[in-house]
This record gives sequence, structure tokens and C-alpha cells, in this order.
Amino acid sequence: MAGIDYTELIPNNVNLHENRRLQRALEDWQPKFLEWWKDMGPNGFQAKEVYLRTATSVDAQGWARFGYVRMPDYRWGIFLAEPEAGRQVNFGDHKGQPAWQEVPGEHRGTLRRLIVTQGDTEPASVEQQRHLGRTCPSLYDLRNLFQVNVEEGRHLWAMVYLLDAHFGRDGREESEALLQRRSGDADKPRILGAFNEKTPDWLSFFMFCFFTDRDGKYQLASLAESGFDPLSQTCRFMLTEEAHHMFVGETGIMRIVQRACELGREHKTDDLRKFGGIDLRTVQKYLNFHCSVSLDLFGSELSTNAANFYTAGLKGRFEETKKQDDHQLKAATYGVAELEGERIVTREEGALVSLNERLRDDYVADCARGVARWNEVIKKHGIDFELRLPHRAFHRAIGMFADVRVSPDGQVISQAEWDAKHRDWLPTEEDKAYIQSLMRPVTEPGKFANWIAPPARGINGQPVDFEYVRLA
Ligand SMILES: [Fe+2]
Ligand SMILES: [Fe+2]
Repeated sequence: MAGIDYTELIPNNVNLHENRRLQRALEDWQPKFLEWWKDMGPNGFQAKEVYLRTATSVDAQGWARFGYVRMPDYRWGIFLAEPEAGRQVNFGDHKGQPAWQEVPGEHRGTLRRLIVTQGDTEPASVEQQRHLGRTCPSLYDLRNLFQVNVEEGRHLWAMVYLLDAHFGRDGREESEALLQRRSGDADKPRILGAFNEKTPDWLSFFMFCFFTDRDGKYQLASLAESGFDPLSQTCRFMLTEEAHHMFVGETGIMRIVQRACELGREHKTDDLRKFGGIDLRTVQKYLNFHCSVSLDLFGSELSTNAANFYTAGLKGRFEETKKQDDHQLKAATYGVAELEGERIVTREEGALVSLNERLRDDYVADCARGVARWNEVIKKHGIDFELRLPHRAFHRAIGMFADVRVSPDGQVISQAEWDAKHRDWLPTEEDKAYIQSLMRPVTEPGKFANWIAPPARGINGQPVDFEYVRLA
């Protein structure tokens, strides 16, 4: 089961050839996917050879092979994690029943919506990032961008497999629609707000991987707990790929921070724009933006939808099975940040309706660990500056803080005060223009743009100056 069959048109470890109907549906979708990839995938690099990893099995050990691949030839396929023998529904009203191998009829619509919403983010991010290759800070970074892109493409395959295998004609229609929506399109936008934002530069890209992709990690982790076993198996393998995307974001920002510190010490100033660096204040503004739009992705603080997903056994908590409670939460409460007049207070709410907020808490804690590692770099250089996560109520468009103005340190403020200060908190047109002015491609192996430090090591044991993308 663990090995992936690459002799088939669609590589898979689900014995696809035994299900002719499904195989035909996916083989019919495959050329449409490739057309989408050529139209909306990385612009200008489709014919180049890229040093990519491809899944060869779903074992924890050695699941990937590395080699040069032209992206349209990447072997996108269907890879599920090993089934867990005797797995049960581990939470909600159906707790203790055997995990479902087929979609339970009464939850069909809800489950389809969950899968479509997750699936829609995967091609969306590829679309958002499609022009970045032209301004890469190095071949190393270019390769990492493309690795993330092909894997997001594969995540789309993962969701389309579930739709085609388990949702009949509706599923096939949704699979088509996933290729028809477009990030940022006025008529056919992607489903979630953050996935319609532009990713116009590499600072935004690294922030996106750190903050927005991490939302994906937490959504996948809670879907990996699902009582619907195929969804669980799919998401468990997606999470192993996702880890690399987190790495690209965290180390990308860390290298920008490091370079800022080096330039600051060398020139004894924090005004780095003269020297072509990205100052830490600008990093903080981009951090504030990307963190806040990503916090919105978790939805409203209090949500009966979230409660219903849980009670139905469809979507669990992060690390559900590691928690020591009744896994039904009917009587339990959870502390939720809420607005009380001009103050933000924590109030106990029913645990079921608070599940979005709980997942957001897990996410924030994870983000904070990354920010702490960036701050270690700053400290090591003896520079007096600390990057911070903005307060969760800052710059929100969804949930109970959407209608108030809140400063990054969590003070409810007036519109007038917001108008006076938001330029210090979020990237301005001037900031964006400066960052854009730095976006000049560096494509000589081993060379890096002036605004980012080289990585500590290369990919898969290769040297940093390895030719990660063959441009010639
Ligand atoms: Fe993904
Ligand atoms: Fe990702």
C-alpha cells in the first residue's frame, strides 16, 4: 500500500485501476488540470528543469525522490497515508463507531463544502504566486517556490480525488469548478478572502507561506481527525508536504531578518533602504498584514457551523486524539476573546461553538514560536528590536472584531486614531513600491539578492550554490 504505482497514467496508491469509473473521471480531469497549470501556473518557467522532490511512498522514512523535472511533467497523483486498522470516529455524536469509508448520507452536503473550501485554496495560491519566478532572489528560492507550487497542485488532486470518488456527479462538477475560479477575479473569485489577495513580491510570499499556509496546516490537521476515513488519510499525507511550505516561509523571513541585522550593524543604522535592505519595521508591517488576514481564515469566534462539523464527526480539534476529555464537549466551556464596550475581555463560552477560536489559539501559539526564532536572530546581532504578532483583534474583516478599530497591541481605538496611525502598522503604498523596487532576479548559482541572507544549507544535502533550476 505504501508504495506508489508510477506505471499508471495517474500515479496513486489507492489501486485506482480497480475502479474504472473513478479512473475514467480522473483521467478526464487530468488534461483540464494540465491546461489550468499551463495557463495559471508559474509564468515563464514551464519548460525549465527544476530540482524537485516527488513522493515515492507514504512511509515516514524516505518518501521522496529528488531530481530534475519540468513542472508540467511533474507526476501529480493520489497519495493517501496508510490506513489505521480499526480506526474509529473519535469525537462527536458518533464517537466510538467504526470510521466511515463512505460518506454518511446526512452529512453529504456539509462534507462536500468542507472539501471544496479546502480544495479551492490549493490552486488559488499557485495563481497568486505565478509571477514571482521572474523576480527570484536566488535559484535556491526559485526552486523552493516551484516545489511549493507543484505540491499545492497535488493538494488540489487530493481534494478532487475525494470529490470524484465519493460525491458522484456533484463531486465531478465541483472538480471542474475548482479549475474555473481564479484568485482575485471579480466574477469568479476564489472562495476565501486571503486567497484573493495579491502575492506581488517575495517578502509577501514568505509571509504567505508562514501565516496563510499555516492556516492550511491547521485546517488539514483538524480534517485529518475526521471520522470520514478517506479524508483523514488524504490530509495526513498532505501534512507531510505542508511541513516544507512552513519551512520555506519561516526560513525565508529569518534570512531577511538576518540580512537586515547584518546591514544594520555594518552601516550602524536602522534606515536600511539606502543600502537595499528590508528594515525590521517594514518586516513588522508585512507581518501585521499577513497575520491578520490569515486569522480571518479561521472564521467567526462563535460558530454553530463549527459546532455542527464537530458533533457530526467531520472536523475535529487540532490533535483531537491526544486530548484528555470526553471528545463531545456538550457541557464544556472555552475562553474566547470578546468585545465588551471599549475593552477586549475573555469570556467563557460553550466549547462547541468556540471551536474556530480554539483552532485559532493553536495557530497563534505556533506562529509565536516562529516569531520567537526570528527574534533570536535579532538578539544575537545585539539589535534592540522585537518582532511581534499583532493582537488577534487587529485589522480583522471577519468575526466580532470586524467592526472595530484595534491597535496591534490590542487597544480599541477610534477611527480618527486609526486614520492617524495605520500607516505605521500596515504596509503603505510607499513601502510596497520600495519592496517592489528590490525585486530583481538573481539567477547565478550561489548568488543571493542583497536583501536576503543565503540559507544555512541547501536542499537534500546539495550545496547552496547547486543549480537548483536550469535556466539555460
Ligand atoms: Fe496545500
Ligand atoms: Fe501549502
